[in-house]
Amino acid sequence: MESLIKMDCREITYGSAEYVQTIALRKKILREPLGLEFTEDELLAERWSFHLTCWSGDALLACVMLSPSQGKKIRMRQLAVSEKWQRQGIGRTLVKYLEIFTHELGCHEIVLHARESAVLFYEKLGYSKEGDRFFEVTLPHFSMQKHLS
Ligand SMILES: CC(C)(COP(=O)(O)OP(=O)(O)OC[C@H]1O[C@@H](n2cnc3c(N)ncnc32)[C@H](O)[C@@H]1OP(=O)(O)O)[C@@H](O)C(=O)NCCC(=O)NCCS
Repeated sequence: MESLIKMDCREITYGSAEYVQTIALRKKILREPLGLEFTEDELLAERWSFHLTCWSGDALLACVMLSPSQGKKIRMRQLAVSEKWQRQGIGRTLVKYLEIFTHELGCHEIVLHARESAVLFYEKLGYSKEGDRFFEVTLPHFSMQKHLS
């Protein structure tokens, strides 16, 4: 179902005040529940990624990173929707924006490591599982991919 929430998806700049907000959101949604922190090296490496976000006015609803991978593949990383905004179509909207963004970069395949708990979400958006279940950041994951038409 399409979201009825008025929102605005856009790329933000690494190191900006908006980027700092995305770190806070990713920490809260993805790392703190696992008792983990981002290391300085991890955050430094993010300067090579694209940072895409979804906003309602000044409120950051969701964020995701895209990193170049082998060939014309691009890797989706750390998709996080603010807790009170989950299951309202925000994740779907941001992934659709990310796919247009990827296409405009001239890339035609998106790959990711999906938490097992989120596999159904990605399958609904046309992503397919590849290979066996594995563990990352203490959680079961699957590799997934989608070819953009
Ligand atoms: C997983 C996540 C990104 C999904 O974003 P969202 O905004 O909550 O999802 P949407 O509302 O856009 O959902 C789109 C569809 O997927 C379904 N869906 C969403 N999350 C799901 C989940 N965890 N399991 C099964 N289905 C899910 C929705 O019900 C909806 O289905 P419908 O179209 O049939 O109604 C978000 O819930 C989140 O940030 N979760 C915590 C962090 C996380 O797991 N990130 C992914 C790391 S790989």
